[in-house]
Amino acid sequence: MHSRDLGEHFHHQFISMPANSFIIIFLLPLLSLVVGHETVQTEEYPLVVSTWPFVEAVRAAWKAVDGGSSAVNSVVEGCSACEELRCDGTVGPGGSPDENGETTIDALIMDALTMEVGAVAAMRYVTDGIKAARLVMQHTEHTLLVGEKASEFAISMGLPGPTNLSSPESMEKWTKWKDGSCQPNFRKNVSPANSCGPYSPTHYLRHPGETCSSTAHMLTSNSGLPLVGLHSHDTISMAVIDRMGHIAVGTSTNGATFKIPGRVGDGPIAGSSAYAVEEVGACCATGDGDIMMRFLPCYQVVESMRLGMEPKLAAKDAMARIARKFPDFLGAVVALNKKGEHAGACHGWTFKYSVRSPSMEDVEVFTVLPSD
Ligand SMILES: *[C@@H]1O[C@H](CO)[C@@H](O)[C@H](O)[C@H]1NC(C)=O
Repeated sequence: MHSRDLGEHFHHQFISMPANSFIIIFLLPLLSLVVGHETVQTEEYPLVVSTWPFVEAVRAAWKAVDGGSSAVNSVVEGCSACEELRCDGTVGPGGSPDENGETTIDALIMDALTMEVGAVAAMRYVTDGIKAARLVMQHTEHTLLVGEKASEFAISMGLPGPTNLSSPESMEKWTKWKDGSCQPNFRKNVSPANSCGPYSPTHYLRHPGETCSSTAHMLTSNSGLPLVGLHSHDTISMAVIDRMGHIAVGTSTNGATFKIPGRVGDGPIAGSSAYAVEEVGACCATGDGDIMMRFLPCYQVVESMRLGMEPKLAAKDAMARIARKFPDFLGAVVALNKKGEHAGACHGWTFKYSVRSPSMEDVEVFTVLPSD
C-alpha cells in the first residue's frame, strides 16, 4: 500500500465511524494515564528497559532516544555508558579475570526491524564491546566474531586498541584466587580437584550425587563449592523502543569471573541474553549464562508473547522451564511488549530492572522477587 493509499484508507475509516467512536478515541489516553501506575503500562514511546539498576546507562540511552536517535544507536549509547562506568565491574574492561587473569568482552546487538544481529565473543584488547558488535552488524554479512580475530576486526574498523583490559583490582582478585589454590572454579570431573592445574579428566559423572566408589575421592569436586559468590550482576541487557516504534536490544559483559579461557556465555547469543521481534516486543536476560544459553529464554519469552501471553506470564514461564532442570540456577528475565507493558521474573535471587518512559520523571527501578 502506498502512503497516499494509506491516508485515504484512514480517511475512509474515520468518516465512516459513528460519533461515539470519537469520544472513545480521545478518552483513551486519559484512561491509560489513570491506570498507568498499577499496570506498569506506558502507551507512548520511546521506552528504555535494562537489567539491574544501571541507572546511568538507561539515562544515556534515554537521552539518545528521546532526542530522536534510532533504537539501535540508543542501545549503543546506553551499553557504552555501562562499559565506560564499568557497571558492577562486570561490564567493560577491568573486571572478571579468567583463569589466566585476562579480561575479555562479549557483546550483542540486534535490530528487530531488519532481524540483523552483530556480536563479538571473548574479544581481547578492545574495551568497546557494543560498538564492536554494531560494526559486525552494520559492516559485515556475519553475526558473530570471536577472540583475537574479533579484536583485529574492531581495531581495523576504527575502535581504539590494542588496550590492556586488566585493572589493578582484577589482577588483585586473580592473585588472591591463585593463592587460594584456584578455588572455586568452573572445572568438574578433573584431577587435581582442589588445586590449580594442569588438569586431566576423570570419570564423567552425569549427576553430582552419582558416585563411583573408585573415583569418589577425586570428586570432592569444585562443583560442590558455591560458584554463586563469583557471580555479581554480570550483564547489562537493554531494550529500546524508539519514537518510530522500532525495537533494538543489546548486551555487554566481561563474563564470569575465573572462567576457563575461551568460555563464551549467553551474552553474545541472540535469543538467550536478549531478543526482539518488531511486531511483538523484546526480552532482556541475566544470570547463570552457561545454563541459560541452553534454553534461549529470551527467544522463549518473545515467542510466548507472540502467541498471546502477557509479559509477566511469559517471563515466569521462561524461568520455570530452566528451573525444572536446574533448580539451583540463578537467572532473571524482563519482558516488554509492543504496548510498552513490562514485567520481570527471576529464580534464585532478587532481580531489579530499570525503566525510563515518557510518563516518568527519571529512571525507575523495579524489584522482582523469586516468589512474584
Ligand atoms: C595490564 O594491566 C595490569 C593492571 O594494571 C598490569 O598488572 C599488567 O601488568 C598489565 N599488562 C601488560 C601486558 O601491560
